[in-house]
Amino acid sequence: MVVPSRIIVYVLADDLAGLNNPFIAQHGASYWLKIMYGSDERVNILFDTGTYPEPIIDNMERLGLKPHDIDYVVISHNHYDHTGGLLGILDKVGHMVPVIAPSSLGRASIHIGERLRIITAPIYPGRFLEEIITRKGYPLLIDEPVKIVDGVWTTGVFDHCSENNETFYVEKGRLIPDTLCDELSMVIDLGSYGVVITGCAHPGITRIVEKASKIIGKKIEVVVGGLHLVGYEEPRLRTIAEELRDMGVEKIYPGHCTGLDAEYMLKKIYGDNCVVLRAGMKLVFSR
Ligand SMILES: [Fe+2]
Ligand SMILES: [Fe+2]
Repeated sequence: MVVPSRIIVYVLADDLAGLNNPFIAQHGASYWLKIMYGSDERVNILFDTGTYPEPIIDNMERLGLKPHDIDYVVISHNHYDHTGGLLGILDKVGHMVPVIAPSSLGRASIHIGERLRIITAPIYPGRFLEEIITRKGYPLLIDEPVKIVDGVWTTGVFDHCSENNETFYVEKGRLIPDTLCDELSMVIDLGSYGVVITGCAHPGITRIVEKASKIIGKKIEVVVGGLHLVGYEEPRLRTIAEELRDMGVEKIYPGHCTGLDAEYMLKKIYGDNCVVLRAGMKLVFSR
């Protein structure tokens, strides 16, 4: 079976930029995945699109990446900080492009904490898919794992997620509990090991790594992306970090919604093998 020889992950959106960094940060995640096979064959996948398109397009320019070269768009989940830039970016792509996403893309979704908040892209429910199509995006709403190119898969969404009584889908006058399972991640087979790239990792990073590893039949040695561990107590963070290490994850690049406490814990467990993401970073992984 053919697998990529090398992948380059460009961080187009992250909540942090850092000092003296010309790249623009925003709340959200977006990664350009350059998948390489040998010396000249390459496929470009845009994974998630942040909250706003402009900073992503600006960061692309600084990195020498052209929206026209995007072959596939993959959306991890329906939240605004992953879908908000999609339409603006499709405007720049200018050709037909598959948009692979969970079937919940475009569903009305709210969070009820201290106040009610809309947590999807600011497009009226039911209109989002139409707007994608208008811009030559071809929505492929696939909840199961799907191969995109040789050695590159989505994990599909998850089921049996934990109790969550703050997020809901709104449909036909009803509040339908949303347990945040409707999220997919990317998994890349580099021959001897796998790389996982997450949006928010709402279903839980250890479950994602486990499923990704089954899909490609390899150990996952690298995890990149948002890990959504904000608000977790220290013992739980330690357990998660140790579990990841015990599962064989050797390098971890937390970003976006991971949270400072979680990043600190990952640093403690992983040392130099934990690198916190910043907008504009370029990560290279090879066989
Ligand atoms: Fe997020
Ligand atoms: Fe999210």
